[in-house]
Amino acid sequence: MAVKPKVLVTREVFDETLAYLGRHCEVESNQKDVPFDADTLAQRLKDKDGVVCCLTDRIDGQLLARCPRLKVAANIAVGFNNIDLAACTAHHVLATNTPGVLDDSTADLAWTLMLAAARRLTEAETYVRAGQWKGWHLKQLLGVDVHHATLGIIGMGRIGQAIARRAEGFEMRVIYHNRSRLAADIEQRLKATYVSKDELLAQADFVVLQMPYSPQTHHLIGEAELKKMKPSAILINSTRGGVVDDTALIRALKGGTIRAAGLDVFESEPRLNPEFLALKNVVLAPHIGSSTEATRSAMAMTAAQNAVAALTGGTPPNLLNPECKL
Ligand code: GLV
Repeated sequence: MAVKPKVLVTREVFDETLAYLGRHCEVESNQKDVPFDADTLAQRLKDKDGVVCCLTDRIDGQLLARCPRLKVAANIAVGFNNIDLAACTAHHVLATNTPGVLDDSTADLAWTLMLAAARRLTEAETYVRAGQWKGWHLKQLLGVDVHHATLGIIGMGRIGQAIARRAEGFEMRVIYHNRSRLAADIEQRLKATYVSKDELLAQADFVVLQMPYSPQTHHLIGEAELKKMKPSAILINSTRGGVVDDTALIRALKGGTIRAAGLDVFESEPRLNPEFLALKNVVLAPHIGSSTEATRSAMAMTAAQNAVAALTGGTPPNLLNPECKL
């Protein structure tokens, strides 16, 4: 019988993911879910042919130099800023991600944050739980309307477009900014108008960030950009920490430069700036954009399928570095 390739799964996954991998590979998994530090990860990977990894694992040249057998790094995420693609290619490691399966769930979470920030849901719930609610009054926890407002989306890939589609039911005006303008028929279908970044910041009631994180998008929203937004505007970040300068955002939220924010991601997460915790006008979530049972299990299975394809001589469906030669 042929020897099965060896795979490490770096974090807890679903039973069905392990069962599928087990049919094709010899699997070592970390169902205890304690993240490996860089050294432990390198130790665990030194005899492995593949790794099914997560955004908490840094896959870079230093690590790969210690993993001579590795042929594939299959990320359980659509974002892959934790993976150095050039280093993977240099070490003949195929890198993959999980596009497509999480668009709708992530768009739903961006909307959850928009609605919660607009209607002050975190504040409202804290108030009720603290036993402060003594009765109805007209000006209680006044929020702002989402319906008929202007939605500005920066980053109009699959997830950005799914966010835009949901705006129709709220009768919103949709404007967007993206590295490249969408084809006219897609713009028409989404009823979305292309504008410059500055126009978007100046006009949007809700600014939603959905571009990938990279050195080019680091602090894409900082003090200057926050000042260009309306004082009544709400900022939503459901993409990656680092696209927003969190220190500048805290200053803007404290000083009334913008009205509120809804955040699923943070710089240096999970150690977010503690000043966020004291602010009432921010809704905070722990990077759960894609976290529904169906979507997270589809993501894990997609990553497993990518890994198996690479290790059985095929081309993984979601290959990020096609220039890589095994
Ligand atoms: C989650 O953040 C992902 O990139 O899939």
